[in-house]
Amino acid sequence: MLGRLNHVALAVPDLAAAIAAYRDTLGAEVTEPQALPEHGVTVVFVNVGNTKIELLEPLGENSPIAAFLAKNPSGGMHHLCYEVDDILAARDQLKAAGARVLGDGNPKPGAHGKPVLFLHPKDFFGTLIELEQS
Ligand code: CO
Repeated sequence: MLGRLNHVALAVPDLAAAIAAYRDTLGAEVTEPQALPEHGVTVVFVNVGNTKIELLEPLGENSPIAAFLAKNPSGGMHHLCYEVDDILAARDQLKAAGARVLGDGNPKPGAHGKPVLFLHPKDFFGTLIELEQS
């Protein structure tokens, strides 16, 4: 089921500061900020060749990363995103195996415009998993 690691996501309290750190201090290529109101975040991607780092800042009142940042005020690793060939087949297989799919269980368009789903971190050793249709 699992394909490539698409990205590692870090929640950050200050996206402009995180962009400056990755672009200016670390010398990486960073995309323009993209607001994703449906996911309650603003994102950029840092291209590191073999994968990407997604930097997430809360957007709006009910951001799903607000609680994470309250617990981790300086930021931290938020999720891993793996590619899957068929996101609906993957979801059905995971649900049949007892894994919890977050939200209403229907894929939403993610930062790359492709459908994504999130899996409960308690089912995967404390790490939130995003699946993205490849
Ligand atoms: Co992500």
